Amino acid sequence: MTKLTLSPAWKALQAHQAEMAGVQLRELFARDPERARKFSLQAGALLLDYSKHRVTGATLALLIDLARQAEVERWRTRMFAGEHINNSEDRAVLHVALRSCFDTFPAGNDVMPLVRKAKEGMRAFSDAVRSGALLGHSGKPMRTLINIGIGGSDLGPRMLARALWRQADAPQSVQFVANADPDDLARALSQAQPETTLFIVASKTFTTVETLGNANLAKAWLIKALGSEAAVNAHFAAVTANTRAAAAFGIAPERCFPLWDWVGGRFSVWGAVGLPVAIAIGMDRFEELLAGARAMDEHFLAAPLEANMPVLLALLGIWYADFFGAETHAVLPYAEALRELPAYLQQLEMESNGKGVDRDGQAVDYATVPVIWGALGSNSQHAFHQLLHQGTHLAPCDFLVPAATTGAAAENALAQAAALMTGKDAALPHRRFDGNRPSSTLMFKAIDPHTLGQLLALYEHKVFVQGIIWNLNSFDQWGVELGKDIARTLAAQPAGGEAIPGLDASTNALLARLRDWRS
Ligand code: F6P
Repeated sequence: MTKLTLSPAWKALQAHQAEMAGVQLRELFARDPERARKFSLQAGALLLDYSKHRVTGATLALLIDLARQAEVERWRTRMFAGEHINNSEDRAVLHVALRSCFDTFPAGNDVMPLVRKAKEGMRAFSDAVRSGALLGHSGKPMRTLINIGIGGSDLGPRMLARALWRQADAPQSVQFVANADPDDLARALSQAQPETTLFIVASKTFTTVETLGNANLAKAWLIKALGSEAAVNAHFAAVTANTRAAAAFGIAPERCFPLWDWVGGRFSVWGAVGLPVAIAIGMDRFEELLAGARAMDEHFLAAPLEANMPVLLALLGIWYADFFGAETHAVLPYAEALRELPAYLQQLEMESNGKGVDRDGQAVDYATVPVIWGALGSNSQHAFHQLLHQGTHLAPCDFLVPAATTGAAAENALAQAAALMTGKDAALPHRRFDGNRPSSTLMFKAIDPHTLGQLLALYEHKVFVQGIIWNLNSFDQWGVELGKDIARTLAAQPAGGEAIPGLDASTNALLARLRDWRS
């Protein structure tokens, strides 16, 4: 048993779960007419209704005890102080600096001069692209921007560019290419003209195989069309912490926008990884995004744990994952603009807390992050909500509901949350809805940069709090390395080669068949 599962707060929650397991949400609402008000919280632009959760005041008090026992506040201070809380990589975790407005931050390890300089560079570059002052090799302004990156160097800007399409007033179309399958790039290039296409190669490490593969294909396409290697300098920029590798690729230092080891890839959209967004909406609106995130940082730092939105979301997630055995958690944005949000949150939550060994190297004996999944509502209602309503899995949901969406999207979200919670009796079993299925509803007025900044920072801090309680290092991702190593070995194997020693028979056989079919 680990310290966590033996701890008083954990044991108290286990005992309490036994009392709560049979309690119906309908009864809790019937018992307390004030429940909806009591179990709601507004922070900035975000209204969180968490009344449709299988909790009482006693549950929340016990969950807060768990947070206190884990010293969430002390760890929060440590993160904001720039301490090396990413212990396996001996790094600070300072994505919050990217949206800080302090002149000096954090004390004793001021990174703000770097942040300010990087933002000035982003502003100058995005202004030049948007105004048409930045010219291609043959003297024409850029019409198409293609961001080449993957994971944290793709999901954030891709999601924001889509979410903020109404604010996007740049003359350029902004495209994203991530997949190792060259078809992704081919599709983007089929709609682009070499003379007017700008590529941003976004890769913190500048070693990611998928990104470098696509960047090299893009480079070859450009050189072939424009007939000169010199064109690369005019048509490529990089976002990277590895300027040496970017230079070797052919990108001049003045076209390299920095990242640092104290910003994890999945937390990097606030910096130069957000450059495509800054180009699409302009740097002033990008600053509004940062201001929104900053507002959530301030709430996270100042609000008591009982009224702290990221802390509450984190604790509710832990309540179901660890005490009800919920293995999944659905994210359901009811706005077309938020189509890419579930994928973004999948990386944020699962790459951060999808771990079975704690920060001290001990195997855990409790569940960590559930499978995060989801899709756009109301489309999802006609695809998988059947399972949410009548299936055998307990799948808590986040309904994200912007009031500004017209049509019936928002009303549909509220109806789904109500139906999941209330259920419906019926004589025929297949027409019965048991209800008691929990959800959070996050409502906000509009999808604008400031609100989105708050929303994303909310989830970042939720992930942080869960990581602290589960005693995980949320800021490394060693679990992605093994597959990369094997892929490199497979890629190096020529057609007709011998079986790879040490590789299992199944993979060797499949590789042989693959090579055969290709030849
Ligand atoms: O393989 C996982 C990962 O390292 C992510 O953490 C990261 O966001 C992504 O790859 C891309 O990495 P890079 O920005 O270095 O290309």
